[in-house]
Amino acid sequence: MSNNKVRKQIHLAAHFPGVNNTTVWSDPDSHSQIDFDSFVHLARTAERGLFDFFFLAEGLRLREHRGRIFDLDVVGRPDTFTVLEALAGVTTHLGLAGTINTTFNEPFELAKQFATLDHLSGGRAAWNAVTSSDAFTGENFRRGGYLEHAERYIRAAEVVDATRALWDSWPERALLVDRERGIFAHPAPTVRIDSDQFDIEGPFVLPRSPQGYPVQLQAGDSDEGREFGAAKADAIFSRHGELEDGQQFYADVKGRLAKYGRARDDLKILPAAAFVLGDSRDDAEERARHIRLQQVGPQTAIAFLEQVWGRDLSGYDPDGPLPDVEPADNVDITRGRVRHAKDPRAVAEAWRAKAEAEGLSIRELIIEVTARQQFVGSPREVAAEIDRYVQNDAADGFILVPHLTPGGLDEFVEKVVPELQERGSFRTEYTGTTLREHLGLRHPHESSEGVRAS
Ligand SMILES: Cc1cc2nc3c(=O)[nH]c(=O)nc-3n(C[C@H](O)[C@H](O)[C@H](O)COP(=O)(O)O)c2cc1C
Repeated sequence: MSNNKVRKQIHLAAHFPGVNNTTVWSDPDSHSQIDFDSFVHLARTAERGLFDFFFLAEGLRLREHRGRIFDLDVVGRPDTFTVLEALAGVTTHLGLAGTINTTFNEPFELAKQFATLDHLSGGRAAWNAVTSSDAFTGENFRRGGYLEHAERYIRAAEVVDATRALWDSWPERALLVDRERGIFAHPAPTVRIDSDQFDIEGPFVLPRSPQGYPVQLQAGDSDEGREFGAAKADAIFSRHGELEDGQQFYADVKGRLAKYGRARDDLKILPAAAFVLGDSRDDAEERARHIRLQQVGPQTAIAFLEQVWGRDLSGYDPDGPLPDVEPADNVDITRGRVRHAKDPRAVAEAWRAKAEAEGLSIRELIIEVTARQQFVGSPREVAAEIDRYVQNDAADGFILVPHLTPGGLDEFVEKVVPELQERGSFRTEYTGTTLREHLGLRHPHESSEGVRAS
């Protein structure tokens, strides 16, 4: 990269950990995933580190494994909007992103909730629109398991369009009586939405919020999911964090933007990433090994294996070899978790071959195959790696998933952020107040020439 070119800036977000085996709950430094103090701790740490946003995932149904609540997950997530609105009161700049499902929620309600969050936070709201992939989740709702996979994305696009029509139904200026005091006097004109999924009529209840629309995130990974992301999203939360895989994903989705009249910078790619810091690389690697052993205990190793094999493997020794029985066609052994292994027999064969070639036990294999992108090293090394991935277009930044709740980001902010700043790749102060400004995104009603179109 030439010196006179402006360095690509890294975007960082903080994933509130929990509800999966990333979090090491056995660690004495692990605390509640429900107490408000935990949310405040992580959010304030992220804001001290000048992060773009705080991120909440969502699960609409408790996961089950072999017909029982999956008690190797810690379960229980407080309501997303309530948590984010409370956090708006104890932070000033940090973006607040919530994962909210488009299959089981109505556009009017969503429009009201996100406009409220955007108003109350002064323009810091973001919506990670997910569709969910299973009928199991649907059983918690009136609609049950309705909508095939592809139709879920048709609905998702219509939900997003409908919320935007509701937000846009309030003209930007005409109805504002007193901008200084934020007083609005007139009801919005009636909006009519007539689509395959929706038949909505009525004036919307809130004036336009500071960002126009909340920042739109997306997380689905199928072809339909990527297309939806390219058409509608401002950022994609991806699971493609490895360098080459990340570069392919980045090129793929950015390549889809032109047909929607969008520029490459209009969509940010933010994979999930974990990190382990140490005084030296050896020290960090030793810590990472220890953490992985805690994340994949003997029972968790067997449970992961059972997800692929589709059968009870509790009789197998986690420290022994892989089962020689074939996987059963029982994709429902674990319910409520996105299933990435489409062909269990092929996966089982590949895992057996790997275990044999490398002399791995069940637990050792699961530790390897379930590892997500990890940055492991001294703070300087981790900063250099993150920067390398971003400068080489494997990502525009990362959504960091700490392994401890809520203190898992402390060390990163203290030690890695200054290294990133020294490299000239990360802000040294917030220059804007809204999340759109942090992410370098246009206001939705601003054309590329910077003129408000409304
Ligand atoms: C990185 C990533 C994170 C996700 N997080 C959530 C989540 O928190 N809650 C949820 O209900 N679905 C989540 N999903 C599921 C997707 O949004 C989507 O509903 C699912 O992957 C099915 O769509 P797909 O076939 O396009 O991947 C996530 C998916 C990915 C890839």
